Amino acid sequence: MRDPTHLQEKFRARFGTAAAIYRAPGRVNLIGEHTDYNDGFVLPAAIQFYCWVAAAPRSDKKLLIHSENFNETVEANLDSISAAGKNHWANYPLGVAWALQSAGKRLNGANLLISGDVPLGAGLSSSAAIEVGVGFALLCQSGCTVKRTELALLCQKAENEFVGARCGIMDQFIACHGKASFALLLDCRSLDSQTAQLPAGVQLVICNTMVKHELASGEYNRRRAECEEGVRALRVVLPQIRALRDVTIAQLENHCSLLNPTVYSRCRHVVTENERTQEAIRALDTHNLREFGRLMRESHRSLRDDYEVSCKELDLLVEIASAQPGVVGARMTGGGFGGCTINLVESSAVEVFKENVAAKYRAQTGLNPEIYVSPAADGVQQVDVSSRESAQ
Ligand code: GLA
Repeated sequence: MRDPTHLQEKFRARFGTAAAIYRAPGRVNLIGEHTDYNDGFVLPAAIQFYCWVAAAPRSDKKLLIHSENFNETVEANLDSISAAGKNHWANYPLGVAWALQSAGKRLNGANLLISGDVPLGAGLSSSAAIEVGVGFALLCQSGCTVKRTELALLCQKAENEFVGARCGIMDQFIACHGKASFALLLDCRSLDSQTAQLPAGVQLVICNTMVKHELASGEYNRRRAECEEGVRALRVVLPQIRALRDVTIAQLENHCSLLNPTVYSRCRHVVTENERTQEAIRALDTHNLREFGRLMRESHRSLRDDYEVSCKELDLLVEIASAQPGVVGARMTGGGFGGCTINLVESSAVEVFKENVAAKYRAQTGLNPEIYVSPAADGVQQVDVSSRESAQ
């Protein structure tokens, strides 16, 4: 985790003034994968890995953005924002400035220093963390108010329309609304959310496969298109449906002949995953951990076989983890094609779990997995550096 005072010093060295410090978290998703863009349910928690943003206003309309991770500075004019080139990190902060302004927010010029400790491209939503961190910082620096849900939606717009990834709302929503010690059940249609108490005595343990497959973003957009194709075909006989959220398993089975086999499998994942997510909430409410773990396992199987967004490294990590003592459940988390698994592990078993899983995964792949343990964290906020200094 970064030290915010250190970030302030770096900012002063680069830009010559003091800065306010903000941070937005990454996330894991406990269950409800690839359901958000189908108007469904998700159960994410923010984690204690952050994108840190140091910011101070400028008197002109420039944005000067320095990334510590990429050791690069990008300059832009707020009156004429254009993309920085394909796959460039700066498209996230620039896209957010563009989206905020297109929603009528009058932004000041600003100097920004960005430093992220959310592992990049690991399925823990480093992109939403940078979007939300920068959006929040720019709004605060410009004296604009905005509701957290509106900020989440504008960050999603930046990613959809400026960066070009057709993500759903889950990641930006949890980066805005995360709550320490809680997961959040989000209805991605109404955007109503409620906190969900994480079970006592278990920890969130995240295992990083250390692989990221190249096809990820293209395949993600393709899965979305396949879901939309499923809805179009099913509407012929079910005209009332707007999204896969509205389809029951029985309806899908009855009308499977309308869908080609691939689209049918994609739809089956989404429809059953929505069902599982609601069952998982009931399991949490009734402290039925065994059932929660079963649902996590089923979720992984469905993502692997029906949605085909897993990969051999994720499957292996889930298999190794599931055989360890004290494991409630294990599954891939996030978009897939590499990245991380989320594991619910009894607190007393965590240390042994880490050792065993790392050793076995290393032995079978030659890769050294990173394993992180994180409590559920708060959403985006300003960090009060002065009180930290005096408290230390
Ligand atoms: C990525 C996207 C999210 C969501 C997940 C899969 O993290 O950004 O919107 O679709 O994949 O659940």
